[in-house]
Amino acid sequence: MAKIKALLSGYFLLLFLMVASVEIEGRIVSLLHSYDKPSFVRPSFNRIYDTSKYGILQLNNGLAKTPQMGWNSWNFFACDINETVIRETADALVLSGLADLGYVYLNIDDCWSSPARNLKGQLEPDPKTFPSGIKALADYVHVKGLQLGIYSDAGAFTCQVRPGSLFHENDDAKLFASWGVDYLKYDNCFNLGIDPKKRYPPMRDALNSTGRTIFYSLCEWGVDDPALWAGKVGNSWRTTDDINDSWASMTTIADLNDKWAAYAGPGGWNDPDMLEVGNGGMTYQEYRAHFSIWALMKAPLLIGCDIRNMTVETFEIVSNKEVIDINQDQLGVQGRKVQVSGPDGCRQIWAGPLSGHRLAVALWNRCAKASTITAHWETLGLQSSTSVAIRDLWQHKDVAEDAVSSFGARVDSHDCNLYIFSPRTEALSKI
Ligand SMILES: *[C@@H]1O[C@H](CO)[C@@H](O)[C@H](O)[C@H]1NC(C)=O
Ligand SMILES: *[C@@H]1O[C@H](CO)[C@@H](O)[C@H](O)[C@H]1NC(C)=O
Ligand SMILES: *[C@@H]1O[C@H](CO)[C@@H](O)[C@H](O)[C@H]1NC(C)=O
Ligand SMILES: *[C@@H]1O[C@H](CO)[C@@H](O)[C@H](O)[C@H]1NC(C)=O
Repeated sequence: MAKIKALLSGYFLLLFLMVASVEIEGRIVSLLHSYDKPSFVRPSFNRIYDTSKYGILQLNNGLAKTPQMGWNSWNFFACDINETVIRETADALVLSGLADLGYVYLNIDDCWSSPARNLKGQLEPDPKTFPSGIKALADYVHVKGLQLGIYSDAGAFTCQVRPGSLFHENDDAKLFASWGVDYLKYDNCFNLGIDPKKRYPPMRDALNSTGRTIFYSLCEWGVDDPALWAGKVGNSWRTTDDINDSWASMTTIADLNDKWAAYAGPGGWNDPDMLEVGNGGMTYQEYRAHFSIWALMKAPLLIGCDIRNMTVETFEIVSNKEVIDINQDQLGVQGRKVQVSGPDGCRQIWAGPLSGHRLAVALWNRCAKASTITAHWETLGLQSSTSVAIRDLWQHKDVAEDAVSSFGARVDSHDCNLYIFSPRTEALSKI
């Protein structure tokens, strides 16, 4: 009897294990269900790509399986927006082909609303700049296959001193849902000193109770380390202050965001802020680095330039499908800085695992001169005898068939080479 019991419990244990662990990525990734949120799975890697926090806390509203892609009005237009610009941008997203590449969220930032609530206490679009209303705009973009994003603030006022949604969460969420809004960016100005852990969840619950599926983007500026708690609140959370259109800002923000890599995963992403590509403050090489690293870090890809009037270079950068594919890879593990060398650590290697036993590898030269950067396999979590095929995603060409042990390339000052490494024999070693 005891033997049968032991056999039976062994059988159930085996069954349990079979259900609980799904070998999707073979030797690289063995996926374990995270039991509290069964729709997210956690890959286990060697310590280089620690994913210990991946998928644990996610909001689980079914959105953000990969980082959000689209456009936001702030970086180029700031407060100078109106319904014409938003409509023309919708047209440009579609006509340029960017929508087909995945840029589907059209997000209106601050300044869409009137300076005060109406007599019924509701938010109202500014009648001078949005005379047709937000619902009409949502209908317009939906017909084009796009999604509309709007902006509010977890405080008394928005940063540009329009009415905020603090203590109005249910009314405002209902209004947004009734307009057909698909995305909310929720800022942090005039927050009355109230703990963000108290101010952000009420809007999550208010959005949820509308019954409309709405992407919830927390813009808490990283003040209270949102990576530690925002996973169960929003689909993405800002990890830093606002970006500005400069090399200094972009590199600083990349480094700050890197710290939280282990917390990102499908359903909830670290947000190092919107793209500046195309706004004129950085060189072509610097913008290419900005886009490469944002893609590799699984950052939201929200274009921040005037896409009605992009240069050929800007379009080339933001429409690079091979780079976008890294960002949208289904494995959803944030790549990170794995090695630095040279003066002030300016020769950098950033890398992260991809589905299908592959790796994304960036050689980023932050030095003032061109430099050769060499990645050794151990740094990447590969065994040194492993043979690797390498594709360059900016040159769009295969640059090595069977590299072994290391790979180096000359990289221009402030430029970033981005590759996919496909190991041919051994997968990532479990260090
Ligand atoms: C709408 O905004 C754009 C960008 O700021 C501006 O160029 C345009 O003149 C504005 N149009 C109207 C009708 O206000
Ligand atoms: C609301 O939350 C529940 C529980 O997490 C979830 O199952 C549901 O899909 C959510 N609904 C919406 C509209 O987000
Ligand atoms: C842009 O950001 C950098 C780095 O954070 C900062 O030093 C600089 O003052 C900022 N520039 C502007 C115009 O805000
Ligand atoms: C388009 O962009 C160029 C710079 O790339 C600028 O000189 C020009 O004024 C812009 N045109 C419009 C209509 O905004």
